[in-house]
Parts: sequence; C-alpha cells; structure tokens
Amino acid sequence: MQTANDIRNTFLDYFARNGHTVVDSSPLVPRNDPTLMFTNAGMVQFKNVFTGQEERAYKRATTSQKVVRAGGKHNDLENVGYTARHHTFFEMLGNFSFGDYFKPDAIEFAWKLVTGEYGLPKDKLLVTVHTSDEEAAGLWRKIAGLPDDRIIRIPTSDNFWTMGDVGPCGPCTEIFYDHGPSIPGGPPGSPDEDGDRFIEIWNLVFMQFEQLPNGERINLPRPSIDTGMGLERITAVLQGTHDNYNIDLMRQLIEASAAASNTDPYGPVNVSHRVIADHLRCSGFLIADGVLPSNEGRGYVLRRIMRRAMRHAHMIGCTEPLLYRLVPALVRAMGGHYRELVRAEALITETLKLEETRFKQTLDRGLRLLDDETARLASGGVLPGEVAFKLYDTYGFPLDLTQDVLRGRGGAVDVAGFEAAMERQRAEARRNWAGSGEAATETVWFDIRQQLGATEFLGYEAEHVEGQVTALVVDGKRVEKAEAGQNVAVIVNQTAFYGESGGQVGDSGAITTEKGGKVAVTGTVKKLGDVFVHLGTVEAGSIAVGDAVDLAVDGERRSAIRANHSATHLLHAALREKLGEHVTQKGSLVDNERLRFDISHPKPIEAAEMAVIEAQVNARVRGNSEVVTRLMAVDEAIETGAMALFGEKYGEEVRVVTMGGPGATANRDFSVELCGGIHVKRTGDIGLFKVVSESAVAAGVRRIEAVTGAAAFAWFADREAMLSTVAGELKVRPEDVPSRVGALVEEKRRLERDLSDLRRKMATDNAGGDGDVREIAGVKLISRVLEDVPPKELKPMADELKARIGSGVAVLIAANDGKASIVVAVTDDVAGRFSAVDLVRLGAEKLGGKGGGGRPDMAQAGGTDPSQAGEAVEAIAAALGA
Ligand code: ALA
Repeated sequence: MQTANDIRNTFLDYFARNGHTVVDSSPLVPRNDPTLMFTNAGMVQFKNVFTGQEERAYKRATTSQKVVRAGGKHNDLENVGYTARHHTFFEMLGNFSFGDYFKPDAIEFAWKLVTGEYGLPKDKLLVTVHTSDEEAAGLWRKIAGLPDDRIIRIPTSDNFWTMGDVGPCGPCTEIFYDHGPSIPGGPPGSPDEDGDRFIEIWNLVFMQFEQLPNGERINLPRPSIDTGMGLERITAVLQGTHDNYNIDLMRQLIEASAAASNTDPYGPVNVSHRVIADHLRCSGFLIADGVLPSNEGRGYVLRRIMRRAMRHAHMIGCTEPLLYRLVPALVRAMGGHYRELVRAEALITETLKLEETRFKQTLDRGLRLLDDETARLASGGVLPGEVAFKLYDTYGFPLDLTQDVLRGRGGAVDVAGFEAAMERQRAEARRNWAGSGEAATETVWFDIRQQLGATEFLGYEAEHVEGQVTALVVDGKRVEKAEAGQNVAVIVNQTAFYGESGGQVGDSGAITTEKGGKVAVTGTVKKLGDVFVHLGTVEAGSIAVGDAVDLAVDGERRSAIRANHSATHLLHAALREKLGEHVTQKGSLVDNERLRFDISHPKPIEAAEMAVIEAQVNARVRGNSEVVTRLMAVDEAIETGAMALFGEKYGEEVRVVTMGGPGATANRDFSVELCGGIHVKRTGDIGLFKVVSESAVAAGVRRIEAVTGAAAFAWFADREAMLSTVAGELKVRPEDVPSRVGALVEEKRRLERDLSDLRRKMATDNAGGDGDVREIAGVKLISRVLEDVPPKELKPMADELKARIGSGVAVLIAANDGKASIVVAVTDDVAGRFSAVDLVRLGAEKLGGKGGGGRPDMAQAGGTDPSQAGEAVEAIAAALGA
C-alpha cells in the first residue's frame, strides 16, 4: 500500500524531476495577504509572483501546502466529521508555473503522474473543463486520448477558480475519479454530483487574470499554472476507499483517539473520532504556526475548533482532557514531513491541555443547561437565541458548538436571536462605558473596539505583515482618509507593531499603501487592552479606510528593544540570586537605547555585588540558550516559578517566558517570568550587557540602568578612548596607567610636604635677628607678612616663632589671591595678660574681616584686604602697649 507519506513524496519527487523547485509549505497565517484569515490554497504564498510584483529564482515550483478552511470564504467546519471529505485542515499538493509552461504541459504533467506514477486506470478517470475553454478540451483529447463523453463542460464558477474576492484567478480543469456504480452519485454537472461516486482529485487552474478590488479583472503579465490536489483525496483513491477518513494517516489518529478514550474506533462513536482527528490536526498545525486560542479573529477560530473537538471527547465519555494526549500520535503521523510539529510539540500539548482543562469547568454545566432547554423543544425545534447567547457568554460555547449539538438532535439555533442578544450586551457595555466618566476623546476608541474588535497581533513571529485599514483617527475624530502632512492614528485588522505595554516601548516603522501612500509610524500604543493604534504622520500620498497596507516594523530598533527586554529578565534573575528573594520589580522601562529596572532593595548595591551580577548576566548571554514562550493558566505559571508582578492585571491565560538555561534551583530555568513582551530568540542575541548606573529613586527602591549589544560596546569603546587619552597624557601604555597614576599621587603628596616645610623654614628663618622683633611695654612682638602661604600652614609657623622668641606674641599674616589670613600666638607666660583671640580680632578688623577664633594662646582669623597687613600688626602692637 502507498501511504499518504509515500504519495506526498511521489508527487514532490515527480515534479522535482521535471524541473520544479520543491518549496516548503508556507505558514497557515498568510504573511502576504491582509484579506485572508488562513492559507487556503497552495498558490497563496505565490500570489505576488503570479501578479509580477515579486521575482523568485525559479519559474517552476512544487509544494505540499498546509491549508485551513475554517472561517472566511472556504468554511467547512460544520460539516467536518459527518461527511467523507470535509476537513478543516488538509494538505494540498500542487505544481506551479510562473509564466513558464501553460495548458499543454500542465495537462500532460498531471496525466502522466496520475496514470503513470500513481497508476490509476485510465478508464476510471474523467475531466471537466470550463465551457469557454475548448483549447483545454482539445488538449485532453490529444494528450490523454479521452473520449468526448468523459470531457465534461461546466459553465459555472465551479470551473473558474478564485483565491478570494480579489487576487489571481482563471478557468480550471478538474480530474475526477469514478469509484464505480456501487457508490451512489452522479458525474460532475449532474443533479446528484455531490454523491460519493465521482470524486474530484485534482484541480488545474490556468491562471490568467487578476481580480482587482474595484471589480475589474485584468490580465496577468504572463499566463501561469496553479494546481491543487488534496493529499487526503488522492490517498483515499489510491488506497481503494472513497472516504478520506479511511486513509492510513487519518486512521492512525482515529485509532489513537479510540485507544485514549477506550472506545471502538469504527463503531457508533466514529463521527466523534473523525471530528477529533481532523480538529487535532488543525489545532496542532495552527498552534505550531503561532496561533493561540483567544476570543478574536484567528485565535477564536482555533478556540472554536478545539472546543468542538473537546465536546466530542466529552460525548464519548472522556471525563479527563483527551486531545493533548493525542499529540504524540499527530507528531508520529506527520512530523516527519512537517518538522514544525516536532519543534512545537510541547507548545501544542500545553495549549491543548490548558484549553481543555479550562473548558471542562463549564462544559458540563453548559451541556446540562442545553439538555434542559432541548428537552422542552419539540423535535426539530429551534433553540432560542437567548439560550445560545447565555451558553456563549457564560459557558464559553461558541455558536457553532451549540449548533453542532442541536444538529445531532435534529434541531437548530435561532441565530438572529443570538445576534440580537449579543448586540444588546454590546449596547449595555457602551452605556456603562459612557457613564464611567472616561474622557470623551477615549470614547472614539471604545466605539472602534466595539465595532471592529481587537487588532490581531502577529508581531511575535513577524516584523512585516500586510493588513487592512479599518479605522483612522485625526484630532480625536474618526475620518475616512488622511492626507500628506496630517498626524494620524491608524488602526488595522492585523499588525506586527508591538503596542507599548509591560514597560516595553511601542514599535516604530512605516505603513505604506498600494498607491504609494506612506505613514511614518513614530509609536504604537494599545487602547482598551487590545486595539493597536499606530501613531504617525502621513509623509506621502494619502491613506484611507479599506486600504490594503504593508506594515513594516523598524527591525533594527526592535532588535535593540528585544535585547534590552530579555536582558532585563536575566538581570532580574541575577539580582535575586545575588541579593536575595526580597528583590522584586518596582518598575521597568525598555526601549531601544537602554533598560531601566527598579527593584526593592534597602541599600545601595555595592560595586563588588554589581560585578557579580553583571558577570552572571553575561555568562547567561554567552550560554546562548533558547528563549521559550509558553501559554499557561496563571496558577500553573506561578507553580513553575514564574515571577508574577504583584498588582499587575492578567487575563485568564498568560505568556510565560523562560530563558538563561538551568537555574540554581533544581528543574527551574534561570529566568521564568510572565511577560507579554518581545524577546530575543536566543540569549546570545543580547550580545553584551553592561550596567551603567545604580542609584536611589525612593526609600528602599534602587534603580539600575544598563545597556546591551551595540550600545554596551559603544560604552566600553568610550571608556577605552578615555583611557587612551589619559595614557597619552602620561606617555605610558594604557596598562601602565594605574601604577603611573599611583606614583604621581604619591609624588604629589611628597612635593606638597616638602614645599610646606620649605615655606615654614623661610618664614621662620632669622626670626629675632631682622628687626622684626620689638618690645612693647616689656612684651616681645614678632610679626611676619608672607605671600602665597596656605592658611593652614600659619599655625605651625607661629609655634615656631613663639619658640624662637621664648616669651611674647607672634603675628603671622598671609596674603593669598586678595585674601588675608592672620594667626596670633601668645606664649604661656603672657597669655594671662593678652588673649590671642582678642588680639587676632583687632588684626582681622584692619584686614577687612570680622571675628576670629581659637584659644587664648593661639587664634586665627581671615580678611579680605591683605594690603592692610602692616596696619593690622600695628593695631596689635598698640594693644600690647595700652
Ligand atoms: N488553487 C487551486 C485550488 O485551491 C488549485 O483548488
């Protein structure tokens, strides 16, 4: 038997041999299309190649593309499980020509693969063509030798393929397999074509046109080819079944579901196993591609799918969460080709488990309510919209889940009533808001939130996405269009721009329209928690509501922000490790230039402590461990040791970021934090970490500022330049600067000492022999007036003079830069008659000073007029004689 994996490989190998480049499946969340919710065909990733906007190195490609059709144009959710071929997730095999080969080769490639490689009998095959496409009919006759009765002309859109409302499109031809008369169903185009007998296996689209938003259809630059063959369908045919759920790949999952729930895989609960198998694939692949359950947009589609599967698990008697236990089976079945499943296995498991555990809490009660309500309905009755809304609002039942339950009981839901109940709740919320006293300017955001819902944030995975403008605000008012020069707030359905929160600044970058309009975005903020508002100025052209736009984050700036944010986490962990568990975050600011982190700590962090902390952070940076983000329930997150920020308001589920490798505590990572911010992929991306300041902000709160990466390097380069300058001045090598400076300081001290000695010597030399000693009323007076002697040296000099005269009074006056200092010393035998304090005051008065202080034997004062030094001495002399 050819397995699904073999069949996929055969397809890709065959086209590779025929000159096609094997290209990886693109992610399920399209990066290049603002209008698509999920990648819904193989051609999505090549959309711009078909239209000529984008060039690739190849003209032929082949892929096995992951596809989700749930929500949006191609929505199969409600049928899944009940039919033979509906899936929310499937794989589409395709070959593509970008202006290279066209119809003849496309038909020949397909025919040879189907009848040659896959070995399907020719007489079991038939094809359809669009009525207008005689050329294709002729080619089928010629290449495949098909008789005219097996080339069916279809006039409808069934044979005209379009990606969505806009985009590349063209007529198509489809290959069908006939399972034979034992299966009910008619050929394509017949009234009972929807039966299971004739199965479309391959759609070849002759891409010729592009559908524009204004309704116009233009020619593509070159005719191209896009084909799509559902892997599950072709596998079913090749494995001799008409039911996609009977193929080996799906049976593995169905049997895993049966084993885990202890039920019969193909017995009465087979439908539930089919639902579970399909939804497990869809959820697993969506989570691997970055979608997480939420109440908006893609996340809500995922949640609906997960909950639908969970309800079926419940139905077959599982009281404990089931889906997460099936992840290993999914990885075994499909992880060989799709390595992302292997990489995301833990994330998928945890996300499923979390959702299941939470939903279990309300599922039982919701189902009981539903049972009571349906018991009252006549068979085939309609469940009131109010009840469906209550199930939605209180018990977390998506509308389609309730519909699914009703369908199983032959009933339906009053959808209009449900919508009306939803609308009433919105109106109520609006009234409460209006009464809450929020500024009128904020009402505009509330209206936007109510009308348009949350912005989908794709920025964890991407820095560049396309989106659609849903609202514009200028001067606090909603507008349809903003012109060059205007400051504008732009709201889009999805964005890669991070909105300022959790201490991390918002992203900046550019928003451009297809017509060349450009908004320079200087910042991004979040309103009401989840409306992302891009603030900027229209730099060129204009921007209008409805425009498809390209949103490009300034990547360089964001890289610096990422590094600073991740470094903050490492710093936080290192601080706690070194200083103790009392350290908690008091504030954080992360931008592209630095990080600022405030912590509770009662005293300054000493240099030696900080050196250890810095070294630890840098060691973790060099460890280059992976930064892992998981989604968890708050309590579970706290159990893992995540540092919850006290007082922060969290949603029901939180992102938990771990990094730094193993920590000191067993089984705990170095850093585990609840955080919605954006981080590096590996700690090595931080590059380098340097604390540049530590200070106090309030009692018991210290502030640390630090830099990383290029900024840290610049910091060190600056310091090195300073050192070089100093070394240059000193004329030594930088490494000799410390010893040289030490020697200089020592030398300076010695010189000062010598100088002081010298001055004293000069000042006191010859005292008593130069006529500056006189005797007044029997008391010797010696006086000296000196230039440039530091005041503090006067006292030792005065002591010396006193010693020389033996008995009497010594007066020293120093003049320095327009200032005078005076010291008077009195020998003990004289001190009883004349106080040095009184005498110095008399002198100071003459010197333009006041006061003076000291002891009766030694006093000092200052003045502002050194020219009066002689007068000062005379005033003292006069006092001695009085
Ligand atoms: N794009 C075409 C399809 O999805 C091949 O059917």
